[in-house]
Amino acid sequence: MTYAEAEAKCKEAGQLHLLKFYEELSEEGKRALVDEIAATDFSVIKRADAQEKGRGKITPIKALTLDEIWEKEDSYRKTGLAAIKRGEVGAVLLAGGMGTRLGSDNPKGMYNIGLTKEVYIFQRLIENLMDVVEEADAYVHLFIMTSDKNHEKTMAFFEEKDYFGYKKEYIHFFKQDMAPATDYDGKIYLEQKGKLATSPNGNGGWFGSLYNSGLDMCIHEEGIKWLNVFAVDNVLQRMADPVFVGATIEGGYVSGSKVIRKAAPDEKVGVICLEDGRPSIVEYYELTEELMNAKDEKGEPAYNFGVILNYLFRVDALEQILTSPLTLHVVEKKIPCIDEAGNEIKPTEPNGHKYETLILDMVHMMENNLPFEVAREKEFAPIKNKTGIDSVESARELCKKNGIEL
Ligand code: UTP
Repeated sequence: MTYAEAEAKCKEAGQLHLLKFYEELSEEGKRALVDEIAATDFSVIKRADAQEKGRGKITPIKALTLDEIWEKEDSYRKTGLAAIKRGEVGAVLLAGGMGTRLGSDNPKGMYNIGLTKEVYIFQRLIENLMDVVEEADAYVHLFIMTSDKNHEKTMAFFEEKDYFGYKKEYIHFFKQDMAPATDYDGKIYLEQKGKLATSPNGNGGWFGSLYNSGLDMCIHEEGIKWLNVFAVDNVLQRMADPVFVGATIEGGYVSGSKVIRKAAPDEKVGVICLEDGRPSIVEYYELTEELMNAKDEKGEPAYNFGVILNYLFRVDALEQILTSPLTLHVVEKKIPCIDEAGNEIKPTEPNGHKYETLILDMVHMMENNLPFEVAREKEFAPIKNKTGIDSVESARELCKKNGIEL
């Protein structure tokens, strides 16, 4: 893109202020700013404004419960292992988040939860995936999504740790796309005179970013038909789980979600349900009293299964929605920026909006979904905070209960 084209793009979007300091920049700085303007999707701001609000009709969805899984476990496992052996299952680690709540400058996966030895979050995840590799006697391709903010550090860390014993050829890094951050009037902030304020575009950006990075070639060449997407922060996460894969295949589903039975009606987890007859997830803060207390025909809570950010998608179903826009979630955040005079500001209060897409909205775009129950004490130890609920402390306790040495 030339300067004139960048200027035209900014003008059309009402963002001409982004070029205010252009003449003060070095030649290299000028080039970088024009490139960034070219690469940034300005349309998210208008799209977010124009979106329809409100939800469709929410009804319960049937989950495959632990008892039901147990009855057919052998068959599911056989089917899942066969697919893994044929190389049809890949795993996608979402590690593009900022991990602000944990308060470390490093990528979240570099956090050491060990007490007597080093046990990094990334290491725990690789160890769990290795269990599947050993059981299936076949490596699983692992795609790791990073962002502009943590890409180099993440890659260097894996290299330094020798990929925690995983085969390097089976690990592929890709960067997620970035979205602009704006003030409350939709004007994009400058972080520096020659740099836009941007942030990773939310965990719903994973599939578009995977394909934009060219890794679709690898998926097709390797014959990968299923992708199991999971979050970085659950250190008991079981990915490419043969039983989950087998149950989804045998049931004829195009997607599946690992779910846990809620500990209390108001537990802060997104709840799986149907919305206008399609699978959907209602976030805990959207759950009305009525839905929270609704009962099914057996007298059990009707919306009793929470998602843990571990989803399985059939690749062809994902490809069908590749170009469909995902809902934009506008979040109020503290955005470091510069003022009119070019002075840096580090806000202590929220000063604008970030625009994120969420993976849970992809579930709603699927024709169907299998909610697959897992035992929370065995598979759910998320690390969001340093202490308290969902913290390093609570995850350590759960690891110990599962016999994992720390
Ligand atoms: P969270 O919603 O917990 O966000 O991410 P976060 O950025 O890690 O943490 P906070 O909110 O700043 O403290 C859930 C999962 O989605 C990934 C995260 O890395 C984590 O695995 N994620 C989130 C991305 O990959 N990209 C994003 O833009 C956002």
